[in-house]
Amino acid sequence: MEQITIERKGAEIDFSYHIVWEHGFDHLPDCLSAAGLPFQKVCIITDTNVEKLYLDQVKQALAPMNKKVFSYVLPAGEEHKNLNEIQKIYGFLIREHFERKDLLIALGGGVVGDMTGFTAATYLRGVDFVQIPTTLLSQVDSSVGGKTGVDYDAYKNMVGAFYQPRLVYMNTDVLKSLPDDQFASGMGEVLKSGLIRNREFYEWIDAYTEEILEKDAKTLDHMVQECCKIKAKVVEEDPKENGVRAILNFGHTLGHAVEKLKNFTMLHGHCVGFGTVAAAWMSYQKGLIPKEDLDLILRLNETFSLPSQVSDLSVEEIITATKSDKKMEGGHIRFILLNGIGNAVIDRSISDEEMRSALQEFMSGEKTPASAGDVQ
Ligand code: GLY
Repeated sequence: MEQITIERKGAEIDFSYHIVWEHGFDHLPDCLSAAGLPFQKVCIITDTNVEKLYLDQVKQALAPMNKKVFSYVLPAGEEHKNLNEIQKIYGFLIREHFERKDLLIALGGGVVGDMTGFTAATYLRGVDFVQIPTTLLSQVDSSVGGKTGVDYDAYKNMVGAFYQPRLVYMNTDVLKSLPDDQFASGMGEVLKSGLIRNREFYEWIDAYTEEILEKDAKTLDHMVQECCKIKAKVVEEDPKENGVRAILNFGHTLGHAVEKLKNFTMLHGHCVGFGTVAAAWMSYQKGLIPKEDLDLILRLNETFSLPSQVSDLSVEEIITATKSDKKMEGGHIRFILLNGIGNAVIDRSISDEEMRSALQEFMSGEKTPASAGDVQ
């Protein structure tokens, strides 16, 4: 078993939990015991897709603990990530007499994790929860760091809470059977992780593309672990996104705009892939990254089937949609750029004109920006 601890000690914010990587679910009882959780009842919250694949396996793994195990199955899909569904979970927990010491487990991808976390943060003013992420995207990003919440109409993650899980248990075997589009979506966040903090890791991804695409177990284990280590460090520094945590949103300003305009029909990581290329393009135009780096970013996006284009959307629509994002601060967009691969920076000066110019140029299908100067 491999594991790291993510922790922060302080008067206002205090958390410490393990992120565990395993093959199989069998070690879940040991990990729950090690976390010292006092529950008598546990409710596994999952969705209609993941239920069929892993719910029985997780229930069987929990059986030796002699706890009362319940399950609650959400309808699958981002369109159900709303307060109506959360209310139904509250109703279930109340009817089954869940108490403050009891436990919720999120078994699924990012939507299940965010919704279970938000339920845990608010039911009885807070109960313990554990993340068991079953997609690449949730393993490398959303299950770590305590962002929980729901969408409000087409406004993504508008209602939520920072609420840390007590354990993140990853069975990396689940990645083998992940559909290709889900795998590609996860790669959007994997590439982001390297780009924002670790050039060496980004270059490792480039060197191991074949093994990653073949889903070689050892390679995927290393890849997932590196992403979690990057994220854990950032979250430890700034759990509530008062500063540096914003770099985790690299590619997300324009990515979320597209996700919203496409009515969530395009997977999150694909939208991040598009946003990554746009942000890299802007970084190049501002002279922050050299052309070789931009080319590498475009090439890796393509290798992992992530879009550099979106059909049916105009540049103006995309720019307008960025205005309702959470990343606005006093009317200005908090944009994340690259000052070199592995070094993301927060920029509050990006104008609509700069966004327009970058989007127009790269959405026109040009391979490299015509107006960029050489930067070494
Ligand atoms: N997914 C971005 C964050 O957790 O801050």
